[in-house]
Amino acid sequence: ERVVLAFSGGLDTSVAIPFLAEQMDAEVIAVAVDLGQGGEDMDVIQKRAIDCGAVESVVVDAKEEFAADFCVPALQANALYMDRYPLLSSLSRPLIVKHLVAAAKQFGGTTVSHGCTGKGNDQVRFEAGLAALAPELKVVAPARDYAWTRDKAIAFAEDKGLPIETTKKNPYSIDQNLWGRAIETGFLEDIWNGPTEDIFAYTSDPAQPREADEVVITFKEGVPVALDGRALSPFQIIDELNRRAGAQGVGRIDMVEDRLVGIKSREVYEAPGAIALITAHMELENVTVERDLARFKRGVDQRWSELVYDGLWFSPLKDALDTFIADAQKYVSGDIRMTLHGGRAVVTGRRSEESLYDFSLATYDTGDTFDQSLAKGFVQLWSLPSKIAAARDARHG
Ligand code: ARG
Ligand code: SIN
Repeated sequence: ERVVLAFSGGLDTSVAIPFLAEQMDAEVIAVAVDLGQGGEDMDVIQKRAIDCGAVESVVVDAKEEFAADFCVPALQANALYMDRYPLLSSLSRPLIVKHLVAAAKQFGGTTVSHGCTGKGNDQVRFEAGLAALAPELKVVAPARDYAWTRDKAIAFAEDKGLPIETTKKNPYSIDQNLWGRAIETGFLEDIWNGPTEDIFAYTSDPAQPREADEVVITFKEGVPVALDGRALSPFQIIDELNRRAGAQGVGRIDMVEDRLVGIKSREVYEAPGAIALITAHMELENVTVERDLARFKRGVDQRWSELVYDGLWFSPLKDALDTFIADAQKYVSGDIRMTLHGGRAVVTGRRSEESLYDFSLATYDTGDTFDQSLAKGFVQLWSLPSKIAAARDARHG
């Protein structure tokens, strides 16, 4: 039997290779997906899988695909789970699943494997994705299905002589990609403990003094297309903003989060590019999207985020909400100027051919075209239901 394993190069998926080979008498195909994770060498990861005993080790460059087909839709949905978490891990799992399914076809795999525990969201995202894309494939999750602990995994790895020296030293569970970085476990499990500077890799300490950065982001129909007038791909834009906003300490998040499996967990994130882009995109929507559409979209955005968090990327409701969101992006074109500084991305200017902001309607100075006499009757009719109800309430004392 051939098992296709989602391989990250970390402890659990490294141990999974000889474990699956032994337990299932299987040949393991390791698949590592490059989603633009900063600071990880994909050649080293590819070689590690072979050193651990994989018969094939594949690296898929999915950076542009992840940016265009996963990060951009999340940006258009202003996707922030619980109003804060930009969904970086949630967005990556459906794309990893897509490439696992492709590898299973290519190499004759009949089972797919991942390194998730039974306590998290990621197992759900992997397996719900598989159920939608390739229900014929079986699933095995060694860390969950054989109840590994960290100590047991390390002991097994040492017994097999696996090259895990660097992963063993790392006390955190890290998941990182182009859209940001998630940091879990260790001393952060005590929710009174504050994050220390050493856990961060995408962002600098926002309290350190430094000069502010200013950037102009251009959008076309809700897609970021240029920075400071330079046309770039979505991947290049997110990547550059990760560096520039990251240098200013933008996008650090420390929260207690409601997992799908019912537990609350402490999560620390850093997502400089994502937070800067969502801030800019929201403001361009404020300028270009009509009021009722904008109000309705806020509810859609929240529901979209919950569906994606909950592993339902491939689902009918998510598809239908995508259609709504895409339609709402028709006029979201223009420029947003922001200052990146002191941990914040602050909008300072907006400019759009599709703007609904009408200076002559908004001004308090001469040139006003707004007919204030219309407001008087409007306010009376608007408040009529409340007035009638208040009179009735007064009768009841
Ligand atoms: N709690 C976040 C989520 O569910 C982050 C998960 C990070 N995953 C990981 N394997 N460390 O999306
Ligand atoms: C895991 O348990 O595998 C990671 C955390 C999560 O999925 O939320």
